[in-house]
Amino acid sequence: MGIIQKVDLDWKNLGFAYLKTDLRFMAHYRDGTWSDGALTEDNHIHIHEGSTAIHYGQQAFEGLKAYTTKDGRILIFRPDQNAKRLRNSALDVMMPPVPEELFLRAVQAVVRANLKWVPPYGLGASFYLRPYLIGVGQNMGVRPAPEYHFGVFGCPVGAYFKSGLAPVRFITSARDRAAPHGTGQAKVGGNYAASLLAHEQAVKAGYADCIYLDPLSHSKIEEVGAANFFGITRDGKFVTPKSDSILPSITKYSLMEVAQKYLSLPVEESDVSIYHLDEFAEAGACGTAAVITPIGGITHNGREHLFGDGKTVGPVTRKLYDTLTGIQYGDVAGPSGWMVEVDQG
Ligand SMILES: Cc1ncc(COP(=O)(O)O)c(C=O)c1O
Repeated sequence: MGIIQKVDLDWKNLGFAYLKTDLRFMAHYRDGTWSDGALTEDNHIHIHEGSTAIHYGQQAFEGLKAYTTKDGRILIFRPDQNAKRLRNSALDVMMPPVPEELFLRAVQAVVRANLKWVPPYGLGASFYLRPYLIGVGQNMGVRPAPEYHFGVFGCPVGAYFKSGLAPVRFITSARDRAAPHGTGQAKVGGNYAASLLAHEQAVKAGYADCIYLDPLSHSKIEEVGAANFFGITRDGKFVTPKSDSILPSITKYSLMEVAQKYLSLPVEESDVSIYHLDEFAEAGACGTAAVITPIGGITHNGREHLFGDGKTVGPVTRKLYDTLTGIQYGDVAGPSGWMVEVDQG
């Protein structure tokens, strides 16, 4: 592997924004078969005007990251888990799953083809990968598409919430992102379209994002914007909501393992009442984009609950953050199979 000449970017101040990188991967499904797929320079796709992805939201996507280690290796965090979740999302909206082999090959190919865009070690940035699967082809009625397009593109990103590892405030939303027994567990576009207005309202009111409550009773925390919720109880237990309308966050399940194996904390998935936040000494939002974002306060029905003084990162949250990001950047040995190395050729 030679020395890669990186593009000239202000790596430390990258936000979470699209940047056109050199190559992306595209594959097509027709007559029951996936094509091998290939890399292309063109960052536009040409699809039929009747595509189900456009009219009926028949689509799903993923998000995962690659990290540069101190010794220059590039590691992708748990891509097999994203492949499995995309499979589940696809089946939920009647799309043919992308074979895991195709998914993993595409993700590797996109990182390898854009090495100069992968942020160097130590600057708090990473290379975000966005796989997506959409229903395409000639169609009119509400039914599954005749053909499908699978793509993966990637770009360098920094922090999702501008604060980095500093507590931010959230407000509960009266709106729901998903229905009980609906598609909340799937990473499908409809859930995100349904979230746009709630997000906008929260931001306009001065909050980082909104918190979704359970769609049946509006009394239990479900999601924190596009991230899962966790709380650390006063006696040191890691607690995170359990519900079938929450997206199963790969970061959340990884943190549960980190909490248990590295921090020796008990972990629990259970109901988290919006009325009993006093049980928690610390709280956070977790996800690929959010990483761990400490929650300073939550406003519900006009009253704000602060975690601690609302400004300080709790000690457990900090340890979870340091351990998780340590594993992702290759500084801490992770559980077997978590970090998948990219062959830089
Ligand atoms: C609604 C929602 N919840 C949770 C998450 C976090 O999931 P993960 O940790 O797999 O990124 C995401 C984003 O990825 C999301 O969009």
